[in-house]
Amino acid sequence: MLIMEKTEVVKHILRNTNHGQFINASGGSSWAPSNVALCKYWGKRDPELNLPVTSSLSISLGNKGSFTQIKQEGTADNYFVNGAIIDSTSKFAQRLQKFLDLFRSRGTHYVVNIETNVPIASGFASSACGFAALVQALNQLYYWRLSKKDLSILARLGSGSASRSVYTGFVEWQKGEDYNGMDSYAIRLEHNWPQLRIGTLAISLQEKPISSTEAMQRTVKTSSLYNSWPKQAEQDLANIKLAIARKDFVLLGQTAENNALAMHALINSAQPPIIYSLPETIAAIVRVQELRLANLPIFFTQDAGPNLQLLFLAEHEPIVLRAFPELNVVLPFADNHVEQVVLVDKNDTEIGTCEKLAAHIQGKLHRAFSVFILRKHNDNIEVLLQQRSANKYHSANLWSNTCCGHPRLGEEIIAAAERRLYEEMGLNASLQEIEQFHYMAKFTAVDLIENELDHVLIGFTDLNDFPINLDEVQNYRWIDLLELYADLQQNPQKYTIWLPQALNLLLQRL
Ligand code: PMV
Repeated sequence: MLIMEKTEVVKHILRNTNHGQFINASGGSSWAPSNVALCKYWGKRDPELNLPVTSSLSISLGNKGSFTQIKQEGTADNYFVNGAIIDSTSKFAQRLQKFLDLFRSRGTHYVVNIETNVPIASGFASSACGFAALVQALNQLYYWRLSKKDLSILARLGSGSASRSVYTGFVEWQKGEDYNGMDSYAIRLEHNWPQLRIGTLAISLQEKPISSTEAMQRTVKTSSLYNSWPKQAEQDLANIKLAIARKDFVLLGQTAENNALAMHALINSAQPPIIYSLPETIAAIVRVQELRLANLPIFFTQDAGPNLQLLFLAEHEPIVLRAFPELNVVLPFADNHVEQVVLVDKNDTEIGTCEKLAAHIQGKLHRAFSVFILRKHNDNIEVLLQQRSANKYHSANLWSNTCCGHPRLGEEIIAAAERRLYEEMGLNASLQEIEQFHYMAKFTAVDLIENELDHVLIGFTDLNDFPINLDEVQNYRWIDLLELYADLQQNPQKYTIWLPQALNLLLQRL
């Protein structure tokens, strides 16, 4: 059998770059989402290059992931996770250092800052987002300009499942056949399914007793069931792809659940056996089955750990949350990390930019705007409200001012607000700024923090019908300003949390 080392793969991938010659002095940074496999990767045909026995398919976990910054500096590597320095003798630091050795030139060192909302090493796929974000950050640091395919191959060298975290949405990691793994990388499936919800059920955040790498090796070597796995995985993959194409949720959920149970059956049958489930895991599985018996389409999947990911549709979220109040719900298709926001100090002076999602995970103060479109109606003033779409990453389904958003770097507030008003409401109007205010709020259900310097703008229209963008807005209505003020006191739960503050500023100005 031909054998290739990681260093040779890296050399091959970087052959057309000026590796290490150009370095971005301000470092490289990137966000990558975590992912959960609906058809699992379990077993390597080449443990050095993390080449899998089977293809796998995952869905990215919305706002769960890692934001990683890397700089080449210092006389030793220093790694930080959420601001705390990592002991250089820890398993985590050693794994990271070994991976970075593939890329460093002699005598160089790195400072790596990882901000993550995925618990490390507890079976919540922290290595998937971690290595994907890291290779993307290196790509920026060294100006490699690599394709997603090459980034997926490099991420795979860190952790198999990381090959899928260079994309969002549904992602297939094709197993490939080549000994060098150049055909073993992930591709993004075209289909979106915004109504899909994944609920992460944390059963235990303790470090798992056996790493997935070790458990995989032991399973492949010793489980008498392993022979049946490639065929099962192939069939499950085909069914999941069919389910995605047809938006057949029951087929998707049932197949994903069976696939996870089959993977755990292999793991359990290794010698010596490995059991990741805890009593609470089984209790939660029983609860899922009971809900299904009561006709609720809900399924689960389980990685190499005791925690579960529940699969359900947006319309059933309230019932699911009643059954699992501790559930952390993610919207896999709320694709909001690609946009950048402008970071500011409290005087609204620009201090940098940041991926939108990373800014909201870390609660970094950034520039935003809120627009009120007004009209005169029988001597009163009315305001156009929008109801946010069910797919928004926070404050979904709530009523709010006409539109909100974030200006891009170098974009004037007014131009940004007029752009966004057209994108969301299909309305062209000229706007003027009246005020600004600071607001901070934590959205615990989705683990996001808004910390905004919010510019309030107003504009007028005579129109009545608006070709709204249904990805953003589900409905709109005109309401008398004073009636809105009164309803906000009586039914605050119907409205976004920032609306009262913005409205007060508006009322003071009129
Ligand atoms: O990427 P690794 O080596 O941590 O393996 C991940 C294995 C599973 O999470 C259990 C399955 C998968 O496909 O993600």
